[in-house]
Amino acid sequence: MISKTTIAKILDSAQIVDVISDFVSLRRRGANYTACCPFHNEKTPSFSVSPSKGIYKCFGCGKAGNAVNFVMEHEHLNYVEALKFLGRKYGIEVEEREESEAEIEQRLKSESLLVVSEFAKDFYVNSLWNSQKGRSVGLSYFKERGFTEEIVRKFQLGWAPEGRDGSMSSAALRAGYKKEFIISSGLGVEREQTGDLADRFYDRVMFPIHSLTGRIIAFGGRTLRTDKNIAKYINSPETEIYNKSRSLYGIYFAKSAIAKQQKCYLVEGYTDVISLFQAGIENVVASSGTSLTSEQVRLIRRFAPSVTILYDSDPAGIKASLRGIDMLLEEGLQVKVVLFPEGEDPDSYARGNSSAQLKEYLESSEKDFIEFKIELLSAEADKDPIKRRQLINEVVTSIAVIPDAITRAVYIEECSVKLRFDQNLLAREVNKLRKVRLPYGSYGKEIDTKESFPVAHIPDIDTGERLPLFIKNIYYEPAEKELLYYLLKFGEFPLYGIDDGALSPISVSQFILNELQTDELEFQNLLYKDMFEEYYKVRELSQDEIQKHFTNHTDPQIVTLTSSILIQEHSLNIKQFVASLIPEEKVLSIVVPKALMVYKAKITSIAYQDMWDQLKNTPAGDDERQTELMKNMQTLLAVRNMLSKELNRLTI
Ligand code: CTP
Ligand code: MN
Repeated sequence: MISKTTIAKILDSAQIVDVISDFVSLRRRGANYTACCPFHNEKTPSFSVSPSKGIYKCFGCGKAGNAVNFVMEHEHLNYVEALKFLGRKYGIEVEEREESEAEIEQRLKSESLLVVSEFAKDFYVNSLWNSQKGRSVGLSYFKERGFTEEIVRKFQLGWAPEGRDGSMSSAALRAGYKKEFIISSGLGVEREQTGDLADRFYDRVMFPIHSLTGRIIAFGGRTLRTDKNIAKYINSPETEIYNKSRSLYGIYFAKSAIAKQQKCYLVEGYTDVISLFQAGIENVVASSGTSLTSEQVRLIRRFAPSVTILYDSDPAGIKASLRGIDMLLEEGLQVKVVLFPEGEDPDSYARGNSSAQLKEYLESSEKDFIEFKIELLSAEADKDPIKRRQLINEVVTSIAVIPDAITRAVYIEECSVKLRFDQNLLAREVNKLRKVRLPYGSYGKEIDTKESFPVAHIPDIDTGERLPLFIKNIYYEPAEKELLYYLLKFGEFPLYGIDDGALSPISVSQFILNELQTDELEFQNLLYKDMFEEYYKVRELSQDEIQKHFTNHTDPQIVTLTSSILIQEHSLNIKQFVASLIPEEKVLSIVVPKALMVYKAKITSIAYQDMWDQLKNTPAGDDERQTELMKNMQTLLAVRNMLSKELNRLTI
């Protein structure tokens, strides 16, 4: 943990324009700066930086935040890493909270393994380029495969010399690395009889595996011999710095291209990654022979919402991997598939064709995963009813794991056409599966995202049990956001009571609080609610300090929200000011009550709608219930009329 004072120092020094200029060329436009957004592809600039507010916002893709967020987003760092990054830039020493003995030991150990691995990488690279065998065997092999020198250097490919007598390990020992760490990094193995160190990797070309931040965490070594008794690849074992299921080969080189193109290509092997990269497809990673894990999927999802799997045409292999792919869907990723022609894999195809041809092939043969699955399985299912049932099960399973309800609905419709199968039946099957897994699987996730909240309870088709339906709260959102806007900008400004001649001032924030409490209303969007409640905890600060508190908040979601509230002229009322040229703070006693009333009106109409739905669903005989509902609806109507009258009265 970094201390509060250090964080404050860093935030004070990190001038947003200065920080962003290291990565993007900014142009001055009035008080602000603009550029083409570094987070999505665009030709006309919609990325805006406000030096006075210390925040940026892209009007194209919606990314927004302060200097720390920018570094996090752009360099793919977490909060602490980003603070350290800025600390280095501004020469601020980042002292961390005192670590426990165990933590220190762990850190030193990991660090030791990382430096040994770095040493080994240099050793293998050096022997590739500077030893006779390295050049004649290793380097020639890479060149025969069509790798350029540039790409060999970029991926830091190497050569592990022949002979097990520990040429790498002994070099490491000579250089002062401890035997213990050479062994626990998986690079050296202790000989049982003599206790000598032997190398794990020898007589192989070497592929170092990089962490997300570019440190060497493991190696894969490929033999160039054709002897069937020799394993084609030997890989580092799992160590304290290498967790196979969390690493992806190539992620360090690919991450910014993945983020920029909002898409990741997934291949099988080291060589596929390198060949594609050389051909200009830089957003590519490999799961390195093992089946994909959910941690790897989440790693990809940090950068992009869409994955395209590149398959060579081996039907058995593809079928075996189908289930694993449901995991990508379950994590909410869009999944597409490209199948290479008979006998080709991504590597061979990239070698045999020009880069333009490769790109054209990737684009034109990309298929949606579920579509692909149907085609793959339907050849055999056409005549055989049992196979057909299996096919439908397969497809339903894939659809059921997709977290987003609308995406599911779209797929159900498509599949019903493709499979010539009744749409309602399909939907029912999907729902059954979802219900079974709901409490255990990851579907529960929908429930705790801060963006969603239950709007209604929908009866289940089979059981009649009412399940909550979650949707994005697009309806309340603008009104709640507008209230936050007034709090952030004018919360501690005085608001004069409109009707009482005594002109007793009350602050904007107090007024809003009173109004909501009187009607027992709470913000529906949980993120907004957090911010709302926190506002009332920091209210004793000055308006400037309050704004600063939220722009530099430790929760990046809050920072993003604050930035978008402050920088975006979202308010309907603001447009009126521009027209009337009255400064906003002069008309607070009109616009703030108005914003509150708009909010209440929205809540009222939703409640009305809900009652109406309930009324429609009430059985014809249930007079009591019907009367009750209708009475409530009348009350709501009266409230709504009162609100609209008030609203009409409140104009500038
Ligand atoms: N792999 C492995 N161990 C093996 C075989 C394969 O770890 N014995 C992993 C490697 O990460 C390899 C990937 O699975 O890159 C794909 O295997 P394969 O297609 O056989 O290897 P390529 O890297 O494509 O090698 P080449 O094209 O040189 O045959
Ligand atoms: Mn291959």
